[in-house]
Amino acid sequence: MAKRVLISGGAGFVPSHLCDRFLADGWQVLAVDNFCTGRRSNIAHLAENPNFELMEQDVSTAFTVAGPLAAVLHFASPASPVDYMKLPIETLQVGSLGTMNLLEIAREKQARFLMASTSEIYGDPLEHPQRESYLGNVSSIGPRSVYDEAKRFSEAAVMGWRNARGVDTKIIRIFNTYGPRMKSGDGRVVSNFIVQALRGEKLTVYGDGQQTRSFCYVSDLVDGIVRVLENGDHMPYNLGNPGEFTMLELVQEIAKQVGNVDVQFLPLPKDDPTRRKPDITRASRDLGWTPKVPLQQGLVAMIADLRARLANGDAEMRAMLALGAIALSCLATGCKNDGCPPLAGPWKGFEKVSGFDVECCAKENTFAKHGHYIAYFHKTRKKAMEGVYVDDVRTGLWHAWKKSGTYDLGACYDDKGIELWRESDEAKAKARACP
Ligand SMILES: NC(=O)c1ccc[n+]([C@@H]2O[C@H](COP(=O)([O-])OP(=O)(O)OC[C@H]3O[C@@H](n4cnc5c(N)ncnc54)[C@H](O)[C@@H]3O)[C@@H](O)[C@H]2O)c1
Repeated sequence: MAKRVLISGGAGFVPSHLCDRFLADGWQVLAVDNFCTGRRSNIAHLAENPNFELMEQDVSTAFTVAGPLAAVLHFASPASPVDYMKLPIETLQVGSLGTMNLLEIAREKQARFLMASTSEIYGDPLEHPQRESYLGNVSSIGPRSVYDEAKRFSEAAVMGWRNARGVDTKIIRIFNTYGPRMKSGDGRVVSNFIVQALRGEKLTVYGDGQQTRSFCYVSDLVDGIVRVLENGDHMPYNLGNPGEFTMLELVQEIAKQVGNVDVQFLPLPKDDPTRRKPDITRASRDLGWTPKVPLQQGLVAMIADLRARLANGDAEMRAMLALGAIALSCLATGCKNDGCPPLAGPWKGFEKVSGFDVECCAKENTFAKHGHYIAYFHKTRKKAMEGVYVDDVRTGLWHAWKKSGTYDLGACYDDKGIELWRESDEAKAKARACP
């Protein structure tokens, strides 16, 4: 019988590629996700695969899994600064309660456990490049601490469950990874720069652009993860690409592929590390792992993916405008019985954000593959969503889509398409206001 793996956060950027890899290797995959930052479209292609199961579940709440498991891979966590600063409590919970819940499941099933930790546990490093033995320079109260400390706690929990409860554990520390399915608009530099370049906007460079990052292509990372799971020991492994680029060098690489770009310099955010580069000696010596995909090549795939997603977003918005035109006429006639929510109460948030009149709404209209939709948007918006997108007007977009009888998403975006918040629960979504 095929071996079965639980992948928490399976609908996320990196873990969805892991789902693909394990399925291709003949495993059965159980993805567990609450969609707080993940996207259904990342795993939509797996829906018909008989070896793939999706469990919608918050892993920070205790839960059980029926059937055997050979491995548990814990990848669930808000991962970008935009996401974890917006979801600070959830980030702390998933790194503590979530990790302990999944360790218990691994213990019960006698499954191997792999923890997705991060280079952020090194903080703003005083050692360069960072070896696994470096203990880090992390602020416990800075803006990034909810993520950094949650991951540090996770590593401690993994060691605790290994030593006290005999779980077979592995830890990986992932450095910046990029590739198709990476969310746009979540503040991570590669996707940010590419989206800005594709839209002809200025690329936002923080500080003087001399700070460095290493960028690992997602297929290289997935290969490293599988090697650690299969043959690694229990001490942490750095997984990342040691090639070091300044932000300005990254700008130049993107410019070579997208065309001329302009740059806008902004102050460096607090606690933003100035240098980050993995020492991968351990992974290459023990596991024969080295990243293969050069940045130039990885960017080609990433740019193609984002280009297609932005184009889809435009197509979706055109479809919505068509729906909106119908709903507009119903609004004009009083909108009593057609299900359009009244533009008051919590929905007033939209008007407050936009400062404009709501142009139209649509409800209970079947829309693309998302099922049913509620949407409000402003008439001057030109582009919209890739799952969700806002382009060039200062406004918020609320939308929700309905599956199996319940709304499962509400979100608010600023004029740069940065998601300000997202709720998987309609009642909670309605209770929140865009600023
Ligand atoms: N992408 C990188 O460069 C990078 C770097 C270092 C570490 N990591 C780690 O890898 C993992 C995946 O990162 P990503 O970039 O793919 O992020 P992502 O946001 O795309 O994926 C995370 C997934 O976890 C899910 N999730 C979050 N909290 C959950 C909860 N409580 N219960 C169930 N599901 C939950 C989200 O909905 C999402 O699908 C994270 O743990 C992150 O810390 C990623």
